[in-house]
Amino acid sequence: MRVVRTIADLRAELASARAGSIGLVPTMGAFHEGHVSLFRAARAECDTVVVSLFVNPAQFGAGEDLARYPRDEAGDRRLAEQARVDVLFAPAAEELYPPGYQTWVEVEELSRPLEGVHRPGHFRGVATVCLKLFTIVRPNRAYFGQKDAQQVAVVRQMLRDLHLELELRVLPTVRDADGLALSSRNAYLSEEERERARALPRALATRDPARARALLDGLEVEYVEVADFDPRVLAAAVRVGSTRLIDNVTLEGDE
Ligand code: PAF
Repeated sequence: MRVVRTIADLRAELASARAGSIGLVPTMGAFHEGHVSLFRAARAECDTVVVSLFVNPAQFGAGEDLARYPRDEAGDRRLAEQARVDVLFAPAAEELYPPGYQTWVEVEELSRPLEGVHRPGHFRGVATVCLKLFTIVRPNRAYFGQKDAQQVAVVRQMLRDLHLELELRVLPTVRDADGLALSSRNAYLSEEERERARALPRALATRDPARARALLDGLEVEYVEVADFDPRVLAAAVRVGSTRLIDNVTLEGDE
């Protein structure tokens, strides 16, 4: 696996790969089995697999966890290598946002509800960095997790609106044995908080907003709502201590 830090080096690295298919897995690192499931799918479906590792400052609001977001590049390299990733693209912030940077992508309607209410500007950062990565890597397929259902909806809309020719592949949420969806942010939870966080998957499993809300009694609930994405989901965001967790279950299609 090659680790590449600059856009120029990545383009050079991929020049000879363009005859075959390229799969991109955009990530912010701190890999867990959820990421690895995306790497494996990309490995099975593409000739060349590129994973981007970039904690995107543009999608964090003031007062959010950008500074303390888990970072473990050595561990990430090992996991990516084991999953037979070809290229790990790990640029510095200035490589993607050089001084004077001023262009942003806004997917207007889909960015507004749910996460958009609680994290204003978040999806502008996500859409912008995804478009940048799509433009730099020019993948045939890009891999995302269903855990971030609204992110998937935003990226899908951007692909449609901007006529981008790439296939969006969405993989199911990977859960721990106790039901908690894998997330890099789970690392913030103490044992006691983790115990309380288990209410989130239990609540969503009811597939009923009113029952879910009742089961979340005692946690700080930001939203529990049915969202008309493709597929429809029951989505929720809660705070357990200082940790914000999101999760969703699909309401049709897979169960
Ligand atoms: O889901 C994530 O990890 C991020 O939002 C993404 C898609 C890598 C963009 O920074």
